[in-house]
Amino acid sequence: MTQEVNGAEALTELRPRMRQLFTVLAGEDTGKVEVIFNEAVNNAFRQGSKVRVKISRIGGKLILRVKDSGQGFAGNLLLHSLCSQDLAELFDEKLIDESGRGLLIMKAMADEVCFNHQGNEIMLVIKLGYNN
Ligand SMILES: Nc1ncnc2c1ncn2[C@@H]1O[C@H](COP(=O)(O)OP(=O)(O)O)[C@@H](O)[C@H]1O
Ligand SMILES: [Mg+2]
Repeated sequence: MTQEVNGAEALTELRPRMRQLFTVLAGEDTGKVEVIFNEAVNNAFRQGSKVRVKISRIGGKLILRVKDSGQGFAGNLLLHSLCSQDLAELFDEKLIDESGRGLLIMKAMADEVCFNHQGNEIMLVIKLGYNN
């Protein structure tokens, strides 16, 4: 399913529908998927008012893609630097900060995270539980 979201108001309207869809697609993993989705969508909306969301399920994997209308950034570089830092260091730097936790949360909760080349689209792969 592909969904264009124009403006935060549209997202408010879309949210119940997304929850329903996640419930169908992700079952017991719905809460986890919602947390990940919220972080991705919040970042995307900061870049502008146009956001495109793609959701698909391939076998036991849920694939979320969130694209914004911004210029993008060196997202994969930032993700990589999160991988190479140790957790204690990250904890000091990020977890107590007001900001900069989103990517850390997405990395911790999703099984795969990457950006496109431009850095204006994030792709998240979430392995679903065996009960789906
Ligand atoms: N879609 C995006 N387009 C441009 N920059 C982004 C995008 N997503 C994340 N970023 C950059 O990565 C940083 C870290 O994101 P995140 O971990 O979610 O923290 P926060 O949203 O609290 O700043 C953001 O501050 C922003 O600079
Ligand atoms: Mg964020």
